[in-house]
Amino acid sequence: MPINNPIGILSVGHYLPDTIIDNHHFVDRGMDTSSEWIETRSGIKTRHIVSENQSTSDLAALAGTSAINHGAVDASVLDFIIVATATPDHQGFPSTACLVQEKLGLTNIECFDVTAACSGFAYALSIAYAKITAGIGSHGLVIGAETLSRLVDWSDRRSAILFGDGAGAAIVGPVETGGFLGFDQGASGHAAGILSCIHQSNTERFNGTHQTDHIPIIHMDGQAVFKQGVQVVVESLNQLFSKQSIHASDVDYVICHQANIRILESVSKKIGVPFEKFLTNIDRVGNTSAASIPLVLSQYHHDQFSKGDIICLVGFGAGFTWSSILLEWS
Ligand code: ACO
Repeated sequence: MPINNPIGILSVGHYLPDTIIDNHHFVDRGMDTSSEWIETRSGIKTRHIVSENQSTSDLAALAGTSAINHGAVDASVLDFIIVATATPDHQGFPSTACLVQEKLGLTNIECFDVTAACSGFAYALSIAYAKITAGIGSHGLVIGAETLSRLVDWSDRRSAILFGDGAGAAIVGPVETGGFLGFDQGASGHAAGILSCIHQSNTERFNGTHQTDHIPIIHMDGQAVFKQGVQVVVESLNQLFSKQSIHASDVDYVICHQANIRILESVSKKIGVPFEKFLTNIDRVGNTSAASIPLVLSQYHHDQFSKGDIICLVGFGAGFTWSSILLEWS
């Protein structure tokens, strides 16, 4: 599928915090759950947790540095930084991307955040593609970074078990062949209520202390999110395949947002792409929201991808949002 002036991913990188907790951690802290329940219902065995003195911009900057160090382009070619996150350092402003710019020692380039929950990284890739295609910059650093452990009530067994912290990054720019082939994105505002952050008091922090202030906490209707997630991912991928005139059998790999292994298995069956082609890390890192897709990309690209591979990236999450991207690996 040759395209003029192809734009693609030039390099990827990631960062995961040092602290790793397994499912027994929840039992040990007195939660009414079991390691087996968590693993069989979600596919998660461990997740990384940010340290007290680390912020989302720290994780994002370390992932960005990793992408820069792994690539063939110098950081001086970057024209913009986009950070996709649901857990910015500051509510309102400044953007996390501006803090990342400073931490990377860069100056003047455009920086902004994208809020689209677990679809954030894929939304941000499409913005980077559109900017470069329009000539508003030639290279961009796109990062998905989250500190979701600070957005959950650690006494709530329905949500605390699912999430982890981390960051992944990609440098987007001109490639010789392949690159981004197509996009399908959307949102259903009517489903906003099934997954949202609500201010709540009397919550438990990761370190076990009691939080009396009102802070934003993840609230979710797990079964509704499960059903909506499967539905929008299947519809979006089918739209993407149809727009690009490709068949499911043409796809080499699917990198879907890692929310629940059973969601991925269900999507695999419904779109007719064998589960072996779904790359996963949910067992090791849990649900890392906007960091999920770039973490998988970074962890698998070296050993798994060859030039010309057809890869689907698909994000879905609160909003309800979705974003599917067809990418030919360059
Ligand atoms: N340990 C033990 N029991 C639990 C736990 C737990 N950690 N959590 C819930 N339960 C109980 C419930 O209270 C319920 O008990 P009840 O029948 O007495 O009321 C029972 O287990 C069954 O609960 P369900 O909600 O029906 O369990 P389900 O099989 O649907 O699994 C889960 C719950 C894992 C949350 C699942 O619905 C899910 O993964 N949904 C998708 C949501 C998701 O991925 N969210 C992540 C954020 S969204 C995103 O990233 C797009």
